Amino acid sequence: MAEKPWAGRFRQNINQLVEDYSASIAFDKRLYRQDIEGSIAHAGMLASTGLLSEEESAAIISGLKKIREDIENGSFEFDPALEDVHMNIEVELTRRIGEAGKKLHTARSRNDQVATDLRMYVRDEIRSIKALLMDFLQTITEKAEAHVDILVPGMTHLQHAQPISFAHHLLAYFEMFYRDYQRFSDTFARVNVSPLGSAALAGTPHPVDRFMTASALGFDAPSRNSIDAVSDRDFVLEVVFAAALVMMHLSRLAEEIILWNSQEFAFIELPDAYCTGSSIMPQKKNPDVAELVRGKVGSVYGNLVSLLTMMKGLPLAYNRDMQEDKVPLFTTIDTLKASLEVMRGLMDGLSIKTDVLEKLLQAGFITATDIADYLVEKGLPFRDAHQITGNLVVHLEHQGKQLDQTSLDEFKKFSDMFAQDIFTYISPQNSVDRRTSYGGTARNNVRESLREASRILGSLKDEK
Ligand code: ARG
Repeated sequence: MAEKPWAGRFRQNINQLVEDYSASIAFDKRLYRQDIEGSIAHAGMLASTGLLSEEESAAIISGLKKIREDIENGSFEFDPALEDVHMNIEVELTRRIGEAGKKLHTARSRNDQVATDLRMYVRDEIRSIKALLMDFLQTITEKAEAHVDILVPGMTHLQHAQPISFAHHLLAYFEMFYRDYQRFSDTFARVNVSPLGSAALAGTPHPVDRFMTASALGFDAPSRNSIDAVSDRDFVLEVVFAAALVMMHLSRLAEEIILWNSQEFAFIELPDAYCTGSSIMPQKKNPDVAELVRGKVGSVYGNLVSLLTMMKGLPLAYNRDMQEDKVPLFTTIDTLKASLEVMRGLMDGLSIKTDVLEKLLQAGFITATDIADYLVEKGLPFRDAHQITGNLVVHLEHQGKQLDQTSLDEFKKFSDMFAQDIFTYISPQNSVDRRTSYGGTARNNVRESLREASRILGSLKDEK
């Protein structure tokens, strides 16, 4: 078994339970690439300021690259006795290249090392989450483009409210996921700061060039305060919060898909490849993907609360508690990426049953607001128009009639302002197309929103 790098101060071997309890290698080996990249930058800097000879630095760098190859081809054996990814790599480097390996940790601590690795990891993941969000926005836009003329019942309180273009409904999600995208961009700027060279907490007496390592690793700047650099995990929290918001948005969409797919709404058809069957009920085609997205949100919210709670009582600077940041972070990112991918496929394959929608749009007095609007156009105050329309609705409800089964005489019982044009006025299509206020559902507005969505997508592609 390899000797622990910190063994000098100890006269007893570590208790096996403690070793098992404290090892993080099972999960933090995921950071090997960032750890090696950080060490390569650190070794290059140590050589440039004279702390390492050029030969030593070259030996370290090529040794690290070989270790990276071995990890990637599966031949590297991580040892839980060496606790974490940082010590596993450093100890193996020294075993392979000898003396020079022992100098790599000059002017560095695992405290600034882990903070650096984790920031690099979060940075990489933000990039891939943004790419997935962009793909998702693209799919939403394409679906919306194909459904400008499809009208669906818009709901409030899950009751028929007013007809809307299905594209307008989908573009509401475009806005939400676009804000999510921007949130990840904003977060990136705060993540992209280099803790490297802060050492344990107080900085280092050795001549280091923190600006050099920051720029070699693609950070915008070195962190300003060595204590803050090793103490905070707000950047982890921020990315988990941004992920929780995406999951919340995905879950609302999932819930709508589940409802629309139920026999009670039944106006969408889901792709077979994204559904599962029942082992007993042969007719079943269940929307499990949407249900699982809705279900997985719970663990992401849980991760956010775990992290907030883990941090809240920690005195500055580093505390081992912070090792517990990794599993919530990693599982959040894995869940988010998989959820975005699977929901994208589900959305892409979703189709609309127009015949069902036509019937649905006749139900629930969905254009009652338009009747009131009609009376307002004829000169009635809105409150009176609202009252009259309400009375009409109660009357029709008692008769068991829908609006399209109502005669002009019946309308006239409630106001003599009604004329023949009421019937075209309250068609769902006209109801939608009159809503031309900025951001409203009129199809002309929706077409303009789609052009704007394409412009936004174009600018995101340029940004990449
Ligand atoms: N595995 C540790 C973590 O993730 C690395 C830092 C350990 N530092 C220490 N002083 N024990 O937090």
